[in-house]
Amino acid sequence: MPERIILTGDRPTGRLHIGHYVGSLRNRVAIQNAGGYEKMFIFIADAQALTDNFDNPEKVRQNIIEVALDYLSVGLDPSKVTLFIQSQIPQLTELTFYYMNLVTVARLQRNPTVKTEIALRGFNAEGEEQAFGSGLPVGFFCYPISQAADITAFKATEVPVGEDQKPMIEQTVEIVRSFNRIYGETLVEPRAVLPTNAACLRLPGTDGKAKMSKSLGNCIYLAESADEMRKKIMSMYTDPLHINVSDPGHIEGNTVFTYLDAFCRDEHFGRYWPDYANLDELKAHYQKGGLGDVKCKRFLEKILNEEFEPIRARRKEYEKDIPAVYEILRKGGEVAEAAAQATLDEVKKSMRINYFNDKGLIEEQARRFTE
Ligand code: TRP
Repeated sequence: MPERIILTGDRPTGRLHIGHYVGSLRNRVAIQNAGGYEKMFIFIADAQALTDNFDNPEKVRQNIIEVALDYLSVGLDPSKVTLFIQSQIPQLTELTFYYMNLVTVARLQRNPTVKTEIALRGFNAEGEEQAFGSGLPVGFFCYPISQAADITAFKATEVPVGEDQKPMIEQTVEIVRSFNRIYGETLVEPRAVLPTNAACLRLPGTDGKAKMSKSLGNCIYLAESADEMRKKIMSMYTDPLHINVSDPGHIEGNTVFTYLDAFCRDEHFGRYWPDYANLDELKAHYQKGGLGDVKCKRFLEKILNEEFEPIRARRKEYEKDIPAVYEILRKGGEVAEAAAQATLDEVKKSMRINYFNDKGLIEEQARRFTE
């Protein structure tokens, strides 16, 4: 069995929300606590965030600590996981430059994440949002290559991410294969680790819209107070056809039930709603009619509170010593840099650019000119 190395990261463009939590964070904590891996790295992808926020560096700077607190509060443990900030590891940029030779413009244009983000982002001179089109900055265009550097620098075998990141992992695998084919076996192929539950793969916003997103204002953040969470749950989109309690209700597209799919376990019924044994029974009653939305929302609120109360408490503790949180990131950076340097040394050796670490080369050249 090859050793397991786990790696993942998030862009610091805002606080993390419960979509991030069920999509990936919860998974990471479970992996961390289950053990059986060699190393685990989780980083704040500030350099990547700058590829489409280059004109707003203060936003990225402010959100470093937000994401770090989110990490620590969900239970990522700096004694088990190396937490660090991407831009502090110069080896990642260096690898990116070498990998650029292995990827075509056409291939990047086909990357679905780049494609949709090209269509979504960008501002014209008047500050109106518009597609980048051919005004797309090269840095943004190349960020899948930089992501391949992030992953391969640590020889990651498993990358726990949300579904939207799958194309990035595929791109990384292609780069690894090209590199190894051209320069000899050096890099390790990663695989994406995704949640198995469909509700967790893509948790909708509280308005029932496809995805939780800051710009739509439909997020429940990890750092939300119990009060704020209750308000958001109570105003959640349910089933517009379920007008009277006695009406039959619909489950599909009903945000409360999608959230229950993501968070509810059978034991929650024992604790909070013993009228039912499991979610299937609750759904059946709702579909038949005679069950009101508010009752379901209260149940969801209790479940979310149980899940997020310890997270809020841990966050409060870490907030008391912010310098210590930065110190965790700085120390993690040292560990990460050493690991990335080891890979970079191998890469440079494979690419035949390790001139000064290669006595044989210098001797060989000396002979060439003297013999
Ligand atoms: N693209 C990820 C995001 O948008 C962040 C990221 C950067 C990442 N590099 C990575 C994730 C490497 C996993 C592995 O949040």
